[in-house]
Amino acid sequence: MGEFVDVSLEAGVLTVTMARPDKKNAITNAMYGAMADALARAETDPAIRVVLFQGNGDSFTAGNDLADFAAVSKGASGERHVTRFLANLAAATRPLVAAVQGNAVGVGTTMLLHCDLVYLASNARLITPFVNLALVPEAGSTYLLPQRIGYARAYAMFALGEPMDAETAVSIGLANAVVPPDELRAKARAAAEALAKRPSGSLQHTKALMRDTAGITAQIARESKIFQERLMSAEAREAFAAFAERRPPDFSKVAG
Ligand code: COA
Repeated sequence: MGEFVDVSLEAGVLTVTMARPDKKNAITNAMYGAMADALARAETDPAIRVVLFQGNGDSFTAGNDLADFAAVSKGASGERHVTRFLANLAAATRPLVAAVQGNAVGVGTTMLLHCDLVYLASNARLITPFVNLALVPEAGSTYLLPQRIGYARAYAMFALGEPMDAETAVSIGLANAVVPPDELRAKARAAAEALAKRPSGSLQHTKALMRDTAGITAQIARESKIFQERLMSAEAREAFAAFAERRPPDFSKVAG
């Protein structure tokens, strides 16, 4: 285990487990690095046929670590591994499976748009509060989410940041099935192992034919440029300060 991410390979399935449960698996820069490395390894190691994402504790992930965001907004520099993680996610040729319980916030939801099979525990809540944080959606989600569930629903998820429950998510095509929480891991694991037994070349072609990887990658670049600008905005600094101080943000006095 390194940097709160456990990675293990068994029966052709590389399981990537976010393991920072006391912080709801909020993803730090180092965690993005470990997950980006796992996806890169899956592309080159022939023993890896499928990648399975899961999270320890009661939440899949609370999304990007807000203390990391706050540090960047105050000018912290250094390599940001999220860029590599998103690029590897978009370009992944292996099937990606996700097992999601509790909160899946921000990238915790947008990364699911890159997963090929998604299983939700009945207590799962998908939340994309980018606008509430004075940011913009990322991970190609401004392209993928409206394409998947229609503009009206996608806009409401982004702009209002209201949680979506598991049943609704499955009913509108955001995930494959709702599972009792204590059966979630077994269900996702069984699906991943079933994929691992399918002909890998055929699976890779099928995925490539179903996804516009070039278009997704281009949209990630467009989003990232604006996201970076938004991170440095006075509005975002107010949002991060409000989270740290456990109070509602007040955007009325800050310039956009
Ligand atoms: N970044 C950093 N720390 C986070 C975090 C995040 N994104 N999300 C939660 N945490 C921390 C909390 O600060 C708290 O730490 P503490 O115990 O040291 O005070 C701990 O994780 C537990 O979180 P808490 O808010 O008490 O749990 P909850 O069950 O009441 O609520 C969430 C869970 C996920 C709904 C809530 O934590 C939340 O909204 N987090 C922010 C999500 C977010 O905006 N992410 C960015 C998306 S772009």
